[in-house]
Amino acid sequence: MRVVDLFCGCGGLSLGFEKAGFDVVAAYDNWNAALHVYNSNFKHPAKFLDLSDVEACVEEISSYSPNMIIGGPPCQDFSSAGKRNEDNGRGDLTVHYAEIISKIKPPVFVMENVDRILKTNKLVEAKQLFKEAGYGLSYQVLDASYCGVPQRRKRFFMVGVLGEEDGFLDTALERGLSKDPMTLRDYFGNSLGIEYYYRHPRSYARRGIFSIDEPSPTVRGVNRPMPDGYEIHANDPVQSKEGVRPLTTKERSLIQTFPQEFNFEGSKTDIEQMIGNAVPVNLAKYVASTIASYLTDWGRKKDNGNGNRLTISSAIQKQPIASVVAMSLHVPLVKFDEVAKKYPDQIVVNKQVDKSNGLDLSKNLLVSLVKNDTIDLLLDGSINVYYTGKKFPSTIELNHLYYFMPFRKGKGIRDLYYIKVARVGSKHEVHYDADPNDLRLVFEIEFVKQLFRDYKPIELEIWHTFTDTTLHDILAMCQKENGQ
Ligand SMILES: C[S@@+](CC[C@H](N)C(=O)[O-])C[C@H]1O[C@@H](n2cnc3c(N)ncnc32)[C@H](O)[C@@H]1O
Repeated sequence: MRVVDLFCGCGGLSLGFEKAGFDVVAAYDNWNAALHVYNSNFKHPAKFLDLSDVEACVEEISSYSPNMIIGGPPCQDFSSAGKRNEDNGRGDLTVHYAEIISKIKPPVFVMENVDRILKTNKLVEAKQLFKEAGYGLSYQVLDASYCGVPQRRKRFFMVGVLGEEDGFLDTALERGLSKDPMTLRDYFGNSLGIEYYYRHPRSYARRGIFSIDEPSPTVRGVNRPMPDGYEIHANDPVQSKEGVRPLTTKERSLIQTFPQEFNFEGSKTDIEQMIGNAVPVNLAKYVASTIASYLTDWGRKKDNGNGNRLTISSAIQKQPIASVVAMSLHVPLVKFDEVAKKYPDQIVVNKQVDKSNGLDLSKNLLVSLVKNDTIDLLLDGSINVYYTGKKFPSTIELNHLYYFMPFRKGKGIRDLYYIKVARVGSKHEVHYDADPNDLRLVFEIEFVKQLFRDYKPIELEIWHTFTDTTLHDILAMCQKENGQ
């Protein structure tokens, strides 16, 4: 599922979504220092873009055809650290974000912000735009310390899915929270080598010293040393300043659950700022995983009854998100009886294949899921027929089919077959107990060769099914996957 991250900063949100299995394909921000860090840690590009220019952004972002847009518009104007003037410019970016989403209309979007956004008119405006665009909305304030982050950081998340009902994710977002908040000792053990540390308070009415046996307070964009004159506060967990120090920049990035190897390059001030801006990676992953599970369940539910849209066969559950996106795209299905009328004998006949000429890279290829037990029968030569599922997309040039590669669930593709004949038949030809009137596309196939030494884990997008793909395209795609 293609995800685009807006206001990406150094990539906390992106990384969490990647860790939950999403494919982030592009990201945007207008701060070069953050883009530099982002680009030195991810394979896909993060580009400079002023996201207040909605028209230009819609054009640029649409070029990635995202299935999901995620983003945390700047929150200084709403956050308790800022001036709280939502009309001083940056608050508008929340509305611009909503405008971009409602113009591109990805099936799913996520908006992250500080919890104070709940009290603003900008959120009311943004919500209205989302509703008018047809999104069902769910939102929640999450405390990161209950989502695998050793930090009390409250953040607002809104998830929108086209055509859904409001509140669809509310319980799911609560269900996975941990029972207890995570402390620094839970996360780091004793590896920090300290028991207490200093974090500069906003006012001396508040304490500045914290214990590693509690979640850290919110990691902010500035990190100050402990002033010589700091006096122990009544709420400090220790009575002496001896050995108490502020956390290092690296430690603060680790509390934001960036991995140890995440590469922060740039000035200290910039790095502190982008670390403080970031969505903690594990918090982003928590939200992303909740969405992924929800999409899987949604796919299953819709599979049991919606005839109009492309629904997923149980065999394709491994690709839940892809399937849900397919559903949201309303892919039309093959009407087998109509195809049978159009091609009463067969759709294609490639019986005269001349194997001596080697492979013809220009020929069209069908990649389609075959259940594990059936693949074994194919591979040991017990069967030479493949019948499609009932929910076969009609976006296919049936009369161009030539090669076939079975997609093995959880593994990908490896073996190449010729399609000798493609026709309408029935499952009954293979399974005698099946209804003969249960029409399917049937392919009589012949093994050509094992194309790859091991299975290539390509993403099988069922609505695409690689039917308008040539053998050359699939080889190029697999080489790209390998980074060749
Ligand atoms: C809260 S931070 C995002 C943090 C990011 N989601 C993460 O997890 O690391 C907001 C970002 O918005 C960017 N930004 C502010 N105004 C912008 C604009 N007009 N166009 C693009 N990006 C902008 C800032 O540079 C900043 O990196």
